[in-house]
Amino acid sequence: MDRIKIIGGNELNGIIPISGAKNAALPLMIASLLTDDTLTLENLPRLADVEQLTRILGNHGVDVSVSGRREKQSQSYARTVSFTARHIVDTTAPYELVSKMRASFWVIGPLLARMGTAKVSLPGGCAIGTRPVDLFIDGLEALGADIEIENGYVIANAKSGLKGADFEFSKVSVGATHVMMMAATLAKGTTRISNAAREPEVSDLAKCLNAMGAKISGAGTSVITIEGVTSLSGARHRVLPDRIETGTYAMAVAMTGGDVVLAGTSSDLLNSALDTLRTTGTEVTSVENGIRVRRQGGDIQPVDVSTDPFPGFPTDLQAQFMGLMTMANGVSKITETIFENRFMHVQELARLGANISLDGQTATVTGVKELKGAPVMATDLRASSALVIAGLVADGETNVNRVYHLDRGFEQLEEKLTRCGANVSRVSD
Ligand code: UD1
Repeated sequence: MDRIKIIGGNELNGIIPISGAKNAALPLMIASLLTDDTLTLENLPRLADVEQLTRILGNHGVDVSVSGRREKQSQSYARTVSFTARHIVDTTAPYELVSKMRASFWVIGPLLARMGTAKVSLPGGCAIGTRPVDLFIDGLEALGADIEIENGYVIANAKSGLKGADFEFSKVSVGATHVMMMAATLAKGTTRISNAAREPEVSDLAKCLNAMGAKISGAGTSVITIEGVTSLSGARHRVLPDRIETGTYAMAVAMTGGDVVLAGTSSDLLNSALDTLRTTGTEVTSVENGIRVRRQGGDIQPVDVSTDPFPGFPTDLQAQFMGLMTMANGVSKITETIFENRFMHVQELARLGANISLDGQTATVTGVKELKGAPVMATDLRASSALVIAGLVADGETNVNRVYHLDRGFEQLEEKLTRCGANVSRVSD
């Protein structure tokens, strides 16, 4: 199994191109199920999750064709891929496929809206909490669907079509907002979703759906209004930049010191995380087509953070920020409010010499002067990237095992870091 080998101690200097967002790419690909026309997505990242979802969509009858192998004038490997769901051949998403990636559960929305029926396995995904699907069910039931759960499958029916409704989510959920928004595009009448997720990926999906002929307003705020239409057409849409990848590399530079331009991204996507980073003593400035992150000497200052739905500090950057705080000059408190079990990186960071204690949903991190390389292993995607950040400054060799977690969400991680001076390589045993 592959591992990432890091020899710590090098600064990062140069340019890191930011890829298209995984968390936007996945719902955008799923949106192709809503139309028999072609949806073309530019800037689609090459990631294991994208490949896995391509297989799942193929199972429903979606034809996939890759056009631009590499974008001109870009160091990234982004592709332009067309998805055509001319005929839906199967409205079942089986356990074998869905259990590998939680987001594939989201096909339930478009399948139900277009075909009037869907049978989708309860999901798997990262082991970061129980991650139920009650909010999806509440939302789809509000649109008139009959839903049953049988033998590990959610079976949804709306034989005479979905109907627009006013609905308020009891909790903010990115996935449930995506699904309800997609389903409501083809419902009869108007849907108003309150307490909707405001993440940029929700706005990106709405923008794409509108290009396909949907009538959505308010995406990016907590109230989204969708006027149902009878059918959607194809469109061409560019996937927005990955704010989590952006934040991860920004934290890596804060950790190692150096001067890096994160290219093709925008600070609007992660103001809260960048403000936090500034408070640690890192210079963060917007530059043309990107963000410049710079730390030259000086201590890393400790900062307390608490995760929150957008526009708050993202849970997907919590582990990476903890990685940075392990070397801060003092004590910081990091509170996780979104997922109940998202601290598995704590014991692995401790293997590198970090001093962290856990009390419920709050980790207290006492900065140390030095981390020491060690073999480590992560159980989820973002936690793995925290170990890479720590490994970049740890004395000696760190091996991050189970690289497949990183491959789910980071395109060309070792190439991007190596080009900026890090000593990082992939080793196949
Ligand atoms: C998405 C992101 C993930 C990110 C998360 C929170 C993708 C592919 N994944 O995941 O990277 O960490 O948002 O920003 O975009 N919940 C319920 N019932 C439900 C659904 C969710 O209780 O039916 C809970 C979850 O357990 C969690 C919280 O709501 O505690 C937020 O989860 P949600 O926003 O749905 O996360 P995802 O959409 O799965």
